Amino acid sequence: MTQTLTIPRPDDWHLHLRDGDMLAAVLPETSRDFGRAIIMPNLVPPVVTGDQARAYRDRILAALPEGDDFTPLMTLYLTEDTDPNDLAAAFESGLIRAVKLYPAGATTNSASGVRNFENVRPILERMAEIGCPLCVHGEVTTADVDIFDREAVFIDTVLDPLRRSIPGLRVVMEHITTKDGVDYAMAGDDTLGATITTHHLIINRNHILVGGIKPHYYCLPVAKRETHRLALRAAATSGNKRFFLGTDSAPHLDHLKEHACGCAGCFTATNTMPLLAHVFEEENALQNLAAFASQNGPAFYGLPVNTATMTLTKQDAPVAFPNKIPTPNGPVTVFDPGYPVYWNVT
Ligand code: NCD
Ligand code: ZN
Repeated sequence: MTQTLTIPRPDDWHLHLRDGDMLAAVLPETSRDFGRAIIMPNLVPPVVTGDQARAYRDRILAALPEGDDFTPLMTLYLTEDTDPNDLAAAFESGLIRAVKLYPAGATTNSASGVRNFENVRPILERMAEIGCPLCVHGEVTTADVDIFDREAVFIDTVLDPLRRSIPGLRVVMEHITTKDGVDYAMAGDDTLGATITTHHLIINRNHILVGGIKPHYYCLPVAKRETHRLALRAAATSGNKRFFLGTDSAPHLDHLKEHACGCAGCFTATNTMPLLAHVFEEENALQNLAAFASQNGPAFYGLPVNTATMTLTKQDAPVAFPNKIPTPNGPVTVFDPGYPVYWNVT
């Protein structure tokens, strides 16, 4: 018997589209399936002003395949020099929907990020006043903290003190990878949300390291041990409104991933929805896929659920997803879960 599932057209609450040739190559992979996406601002140089966000949005719209129903939701990259008035104007006009906080040095293109959180306090207070969400890359970056502990330490030493000292600041814990992150989000109030990626529901750190190093499974925050993956799966598939999809699909050219110092990022835009259907079915939770991928995110951001729909169908034979997306500068490898997937968008 053919199984089908129809949900409101999903959104992606954390996406890297890059610019230029890469943007043109990867945007159709998202705009085919998703109604909206929160667009990460970590270009080189980063998107720090309202004018830069408007110009970037226009480049995305210019690259959009004709007929695709997709709206980019723009963000600003928070720096210690961000002008609060420019930020507020961009938010209040609807040009941006959130501001992104990268601790300096935490991940790809984060050198302009925040070093001293006290220096951005007035900006965060202004954001709390106007209701602008702060999307947080939640990892400390000091060399003395083990990379597998960086999220848990960030929650205790940065995130929790910050939220207590600026009540009302709306915060998205981005791409959580630990049970600590799940527990903290679960205990939070309506000012708190958390995104979970597709790949962190599928891989743990063994997948990266056992039997040879797998550069296409390397992303930041790095996948943790199995107990954490299981906590993420339970949270994502629970329907709990604090948790919503942010793929963190992050394209890098293959030669820069398969490298002595490989870039961080998994590219999941192409097959995210089929993979999620697979995961939710395994957890007997297909009825909660709409909450995770289509409803909880807009509720947090105060936006309507998309009126269009997506239908997923379980097929008899494994789906043949493309292995790579070509770009003029070389291919980008599509995330491979390592097992056959029978669900597809139909
Ligand atoms: C992202 C990228 O490549 O821009 N990489 C990643 O591993 N997720 C940056 C980020 O979101 O941390
Ligand atoms: Zn990201």
